[in-house]
Amino acid sequence: MKEIPEARSVDVGDQTLAVVDVGPEDALPVVFIHGFPFSHRMWEPQLRAFSDDFRLVAYDIRGHGQSPVGDGQYTIELFVDDLFGLLDRLEIEEVVGCGLSMGGYVLLRALEREPERFGGVVLCDTRSEADTDEGRLKRVAAIRALKGEGASAYADTFLPLVLAPETLDARPEIVAAVREMIAANPVEGMVGAQIAMAARTDTTDLLRQIEAPTLVIVGERDELTPPATAREMAQRIPGAGVTVVSRAGHLSNLENPDGFNDALRPFLEGLRE
Ligand code: MLT
Repeated sequence: MKEIPEARSVDVGDQTLAVVDVGPEDALPVVFIHGFPFSHRMWEPQLRAFSDDFRLVAYDIRGHGQSPVGDGQYTIELFVDDLFGLLDRLEIEEVVGCGLSMGGYVLLRALEREPERFGGVVLCDTRSEADTDEGRLKRVAAIRALKGEGASAYADTFLPLVLAPETLDARPEIVAAVREMIAANPVEGMVGAQIAMAARTDTTDLLRQIEAPTLVIVGERDELTPPATAREMAQRIPGAGVTVVSRAGHLSNLENPDGFNDALRPFLEGLRE
């Protein structure tokens, strides 16, 4: 199996982020933005599959994986600052953005701020709407659980929400890898991300203005951002395609990497032409 290099530390302004940057430097660049509460490691199947043909950048959002927590007080706006700071440091002017769930929230807001920086957009298992009050109260409960019981106990309750039943039953290696990613994250970072997501803006109005070629991908068993939500979002984006990945829940790229990559490859190759 292809080796993925260790993440290195890149200065993005007021702190550093842990970043993997693989593939030919002059190839089409793609930046992968992970979901909550994971790390860049959730993109390993894509880093393995595409690094011969594309420049792939996958990083840990602050307070996740190996990126420092800083003061633990975050907004999606700050995560977008970090994304642009990272692209600037890597001297990447235009990029294909690929974000899953919280990564999609970051990507949509980044597109709203600087659309000219994106030559392509991949929105995975995500939504453009801000939280409802019910959603915000669920985040308050999650914060309470994280602070009271810690990351490991939180992972136990979170896994059944994000993984499809067939993954939970038959793919112990995926369950273990996701659990490990969650349990390794600092509680302050996860609490900070929950508050950032609760306070995020609604980017639905942006969708019809997206000019970059866009692909929407969703797991067929995604309960958090279901296929109906993905289709609705895709319908609002001019020319966007949508792929529903079979045998996958919210983590479509990890639960069925072949199905996910079969959709991503032709999309990326089309952007190269
Ligand atoms: C994620 O996977 O990033 C989260 O489920 C997103 C959220 O909590 O809204």
